[in-house]
Amino acid sequence: EYKKPLGVKIEENGVIPGAKKLVRRLSDMKGYFLDEEAYEELLKEDPVVYEVYAVEQEEKDGDLNFATTVLYPGKVGKEFFFTKGHFHARADRAEIYYGIKGKGGMLLQTPEGEVEWIPMEPGTVVYVPPYWAHRTVNTGDEPFIFLAIYPADAGHDYGSIKEKGFAKLVIEEDGEVKLVDNPRWKE
Ligand code: 6PG
Ligand code: NI
Repeated sequence: EYKKPLGVKIEENGVIPGAKKLVRRLSDMKGYFLDEEAYEELLKEDPVVYEVYAVEQEEKDGDLNFATTVLYPGKVGKEFFFTKGHFHARADRAEIYYGIKGKGGMLLQTPEGEVEWIPMEPGTVVYVPPYWAHRTVNTGDEPFIFLAIYPADAGHDYGSIKEKGFAKLVIEEDGEVKLVDNPRWKE
């Protein structure tokens, strides 16, 4: 039995019609941002940090999933809003991102803590190699929208990033986007 092909148009606002929607609010991200005071203050509003619209298949070898992410603009203290970030549960699974709208970038990190920063704008393609954790960051003032395409059996492993974070933070200082060492980074 062959599966049925599918074509969908991504809406202006990043929504994929018929996709499964996931909402991440600030309250879902406790412990992720460095400035805990700023976090508690903004928690009173509990803004949506990002939404994911995913079209996912059974977790079978060889099949593909795709999802858009709408990452809203904002900051907790100096730190720009970001996605939680993860390794794939099957760590050797790679991924492709494609920038659709807005401005930001991707932080990537190996299990040993080597970090890369790839700036993203509409039209940017990012190749996420096997074994690299990845997190996107909105450094602009409008929603940062991108498409991700990943193996159906990749899965998500949030645990180690939740615990250890990324070795670098993406912050705004003197009106500039800067990458600085994360003082809470644990090897
Ligand atoms: C994936 C993609 C991507 C990602 C979202 C939300 O593997 O599914 O990397 O769709 O999940 O951008 O980011 P988090 O999964 O890190 O919350
Ligand atoms: Ni991924």
